[in-house]
Amino acid sequence: MAKASKVSYVCQNCGNVTSRWAGKCEACNEWNTIIESVEDAVPKGLGLVSSKKSNKLQLQDLQQETKPLSRLKTGINEFDRVTGGGCVPGSALLIGGDPGIGKSTLLLQAVCKLAMAGSSCVYISGEEAVDQIRMRAKRLGMEAAPLALAGASNVRDIIASMDSGIDLMVIDSIQTIFVDTVESAPGTVSQVRTSALELIRNAKKHNIILLIVGHVTKDGQIAGPRVLEHMVDTVLYFEGDRGHQFRILRTVKNRFGATDEIGVFEMAGQGLNEVENPSAVFLSNRSENVPGNAIFAGMEGTRPVLVEVQALSVDAAYGTPRRSVVGWDQARLSMILAVLEARGGLHLSGCDVFLNIAGGMRIQEPAADAAVAAALISALRNRSVPSETICIGEIGLSGEVRPVAQTDLRLKEAEKLGFSQAIIPAGSKLNSVPKGIKILKVSTVQDLIQLLQD
Ligand code: TYD
Ligand code: MG
Repeated sequence: MAKASKVSYVCQNCGNVTSRWAGKCEACNEWNTIIESVEDAVPKGLGLVSSKKSNKLQLQDLQQETKPLSRLKTGINEFDRVTGGGCVPGSALLIGGDPGIGKSTLLLQAVCKLAMAGSSCVYISGEEAVDQIRMRAKRLGMEAAPLALAGASNVRDIIASMDSGIDLMVIDSIQTIFVDTVESAPGTVSQVRTSALELIRNAKKHNIILLIVGHVTKDGQIAGPRVLEHMVDTVLYFEGDRGHQFRILRTVKNRFGATDEIGVFEMAGQGLNEVENPSAVFLSNRSENVPGNAIFAGMEGTRPVLVEVQALSVDAAYGTPRRSVVGWDQARLSMILAVLEARGGLHLSGCDVFLNIAGGMRIQEPAADAAVAAALISALRNRSVPSETICIGEIGLSGEVRPVAQTDLRLKEAEKLGFSQAIIPAGSKLNSVPKGIKILKVSTVQDLIQLLQD
């Protein structure tokens, strides 16, 4: 007789399994994320039970000839860039992002374009009815594309519709899809995991590119969470602020290309437009000679991107000063503030400090430390950083400013956008200095404070 089903409790944020329910997850410290999950003692996913027959493996040589990867390009350059030059047949991609950020819009645009170029594409939505997708395609001006649509959420039906004639399939979104042999509700960890596994396995069998949409929870994990990231070949995050029109598609993982690559889009009335020169756009609404602003020359994957760092400091109204950050790391800001205070002699501990990266961009590089410090110094002293100046450098705890990677590329981009001065770490190795740029070297935060005073 079959064993009875086992009840366990699974955290919907981190996937941690416990035998008892609790209000707070022990692993990730999130509240109210644990739900009951009934699992059969013997898992009976559609094909999860190992077959009784086993075959001996055919071992191969490392030297054997391999065909170069073929890639399917969508023709949307910013999208193709983040996938490493187009999607590889048979690969699975996960596109994560907040609800409403534009994932469905982006994918619909991409597959319509592919369908118009002659690829066979299928768009499966568990969230919207077919009529809604038609209306959206009309709004995007792509209603003529020969795209196959379906509203479905049962994995069994979706798999039955897969065949080798299909080049690409979109699943929007994995949280609405379910396997009928798993008891828990769609969107739970076990459903998301089993559905994705089945879909990916079957898509690979037919050499179909699978684009899976996944909604993200408030702290940035794909819900039904990290369990999906290791199953797919490529993980892309679509990020941005709903208040801004810019959207950034970022590669977090890619088995077929570089990570940290970004594609920049702008949400308009007729869908998403590509932004080919992000620096120019991010700097377009800049007000020059305002204290507290500094320009950082960042690298996003292989591409340099210039952004404006804005800082504001005011005397703290209450006991504990506030530190508020948008688009950068809070812990990193605290560190820079401490270094400026301890090594640079600036008095920031009695001030509320606000830091913002203009345009809705998120920066992750430590190379932005010097630009953040420059913005803070400028805000505190109420003296603007010269407007034609860019700033790069990583700051250490002893106040030293350290060189950063790819200084040449950053300087070249700065020159292209009309900047004429660069504050860089003293130890930077430069192959060539762009003609139009004057280099100012700093080795400590004291140097930086001194330089901004003159
Ligand atoms: P959507 O693609 O539905 O988001 P997601 O699939 O990530 O949940 O994006 C919806 C938002 O985009 C919605 O707020 C309206 C806006 N939008 C435009 O501004 N212009 C457009 O042409 C379209 C199609 C949507
Ligand atoms: Mg959607």
